[in-house]
Amino acid sequence: MSDRSSRISGFYKLPVERRREILSLARDRLDVLASGGLDIGTADHMIENVLGVFALPFAVALNFRVDGKDHLVPMVVEEPSVVAAASNAARLVRLGGGFAVEHDPPVMAAQVQLVDVADPDAAVLAIEAARAEIFALAAAEVEGLCARGGGPVGLRCRVLSRPADPDGGMVVVHVEVDCRDAMGANLVNGVAEAVADRLAELARARVGLRILTNLSDRRCVRVRARIPVDALGGATVADGIAAASRFAELDAYRAATHNKGIMNGVDAVLVATGNDWRGVEAGAHAFAARSGRYLPLAVWRRVEGALEGRLEMPMAVGTVGGALRCHAGARLALELSGAASAAELAGLAAAAGLASNLAALRALATEGIQRGHMSLHARVVARAAGATGDLVDRVAAEIAALGDVKPERARAVLDRLRHPVVTEVVK
Ligand code: MEV
Repeated sequence: MSDRSSRISGFYKLPVERRREILSLARDRLDVLASGGLDIGTADHMIENVLGVFALPFAVALNFRVDGKDHLVPMVVEEPSVVAAASNAARLVRLGGGFAVEHDPPVMAAQVQLVDVADPDAAVLAIEAARAEIFALAAAEVEGLCARGGGPVGLRCRVLSRPADPDGGMVVVHVEVDCRDAMGANLVNGVAEAVADRLAELARARVGLRILTNLSDRRCVRVRARIPVDALGGATVADGIAAASRFAELDAYRAATHNKGIMNGVDAVLVATGNDWRGVEAGAHAFAARSGRYLPLAVWRRVEGALEGRLEMPMAVGTVGGALRCHAGARLALELSGAASAAELAGLAAAAGLASNLAALRALATEGIQRGHMSLHARVVARAAGATGDLVDRVAAEIAALGDVKPERARAVLDRLRHPVVTEVVK
């Protein structure tokens, strides 16, 4: 998906088979989709006590243009309207030139906790003086990564408490590792364990925990979108979105929901591509609270003739290793995305997050969220009531128009459509 347009008009109206044809999915790819991307034997080796596999809808969001390149954005999510909302918002962003992404190098940090540190300042000096030795130990642990151009790149000591404090002397050492295209949890945890004993010797202390931090704030992604006011539906809508952003900036209760809307897009991409979405979630919320106040990850401002949105968040994702090794569906999703590196995938996930946020704020600042949600939810209800084929859309349209998106109403409408009353006109 590198040189084709992600703008495919009417895609959502087509039957699933036709959508697959349009994306030129070969026979083996269809088999992957049919099995949910995971067979039972593979699943049994992925986690413990396996009973089966659990499926979720797998879709692509359209219209995404990121750094001048079109991408299909794979999404796995149970919530109706996430894919449609992201696609609609991406279409608006496209009118302003698309999403622009910047990202940090793929650096993750191992945390080694040192306890019973009698002299934290001396410990920090000794560890910093032994930086080259610590890097050598770390590099020996991740030789393959070093051969691919990654490896240890930073060392940082932080004194968390002093000997006279209730917790005693405690120092934490961050060993920062460039993980290239891997998410890097295993690499970084290995480094933490490889260097811990030597760090404790240098600090004259005891080793505590040795584990990565999910607050991967050295691996942030920043994405920007600028939408012409006219494309949004006018100045009132643009002002409404900027005001909604201010609400989230002033109120943690609103910021939590605002950020949930962002994570609707981000998580859907991460699940589709087999990434650790819990890690990204943990990092996102810790990052949102880094100032001591919980803040929105994305903000929107009015600029000359346009509305501009900016999102910044940690994004620890990989395009090699992890679940991608065994999950054929995740590999297919990655291939469809056209992301050639972890950095590119991070940009796509962040763009999906910003698009989801824009769609939510636009709906909230105008007609409210329920109308759009309800018309999509109506399709789920229609299907659950037994509608199939084109009856799904007909039942959904009718119960949505009636404002009665309930199973009983859907069943009644379905019954009527299936058995229309024929009135005989006697002449
Ligand atoms: C629902 O999944 C997400 C929203 O609540 C996000 C928001 O309020 O910004 C609509």
